[in-house]
Amino acid sequence: MSSTPPDSAAEPIIEVDSLVRHFGKQTVLNGVSFKVYAGDTFVIMGGSGCGKSTLLRHLIGTEKPTSGSIKVFGQEITTMRADAMQKLRGRYGMLFQSGALLQSLTVAENVALPLVEHTRLDAGLIDTVVKMKLEQVGLTGHGHKKPSEISGGMKKRAALARALALDPPLVFSDEPTAGLDPIMTAVVDELTQRLTQKIGATVVVVTHDMNSVFRIGTRIIMLGTGANQGRVIASGTPDEIRGHPDPAVQQFINGDPQGDGGDGSGELLYRETLLGLNETGLYSRSAIHSSQS
Ligand SMILES: Nc1ncnc2c1ncn2[C@@H]1O[C@H](COP(=O)(O)OP(=O)(O)OP(=O)(O)O)[C@@H](O)[C@H]1O
Ligand SMILES: [Mg+2]
Repeated sequence: MSSTPPDSAAEPIIEVDSLVRHFGKQTVLNGVSFKVYAGDTFVIMGGSGCGKSTLLRHLIGTEKPTSGSIKVFGQEITTMRADAMQKLRGRYGMLFQSGALLQSLTVAENVALPLVEHTRLDAGLIDTVVKMKLEQVGLTGHGHKKPSEISGGMKKRAALARALALDPPLVFSDEPTAGLDPIMTAVVDELTQRLTQKIGATVVVVTHDMNSVFRIGTRIIMLGTGANQGRVIASGTPDEIRGHPDPAVQQFINGDPQGDGGDGSGELLYRETLLGLNETGLYSRSAIHSSQS
């Protein structure tokens, strides 16, 4: 689980350079640069609204920047055509909030989606892979259920099985443990780490949860808010972040992690809607249709 030191000669898996994103007059990402190396569990943290999910959507290619460059596996994705981007996503595992399981499909059909979309495996083989993935996350016997019939922790594990269905070399995850209690959070973190290490995946994860940050992170960046909106205000190993001199970093680590003083519910609703829509859009209608047949 060691992360490759950034001074090594290895090519980064992801290289973001001077990324800027405006929404109307609002500058949400403001000159973001970082590199992610093979084997990293790269954590993006920061207060509510600082641009974490927006940054992740740029890495997945569902958003295009105002300016700047994003290279994934050495390929510039900001100018990539939609069909090439869709193909590249076959190498991505994607894990979002619970709302992102498609409610009209069973748990097994959800896990089958990436296989239907990105492989030519026949139905029997897909079934075998789905069973194996469900077993790895402890959901044997639950494949026939709808997402509404299983618990929050089980939904997260089903989403993990789906994210890892293709044994992806690169996994993106936005608040994978949002809404779980501390024990279930630790369970899902541990399972995610074990399974991603098993397939040798590099992981990029957005989280608010400080326990998760330091439990799983090998390298961490923090985005700022207010005058530092959308800028990287800290970057380093877990120890470097723990010892960071910036009071905003210390306050975030030790206190009010929402950083917004509010209950965050309006933002949460907005975010879930946005992510839900975006993730649903990641699978084609034909994949959704065939996984049901
Ligand atoms: N499609 C969009 N159109 C307009 N504004 C947007 C859009 N997407 C995000 N924003 C704005 O960008 C800012 C950053 O949003 P984002 O969801 O990336 O924050 P976040 O860091 O993920 O917050 P949270 O921790 O609450 O999930 C917010 O002010 C949000 O309103
Ligand atoms: Mg977010």
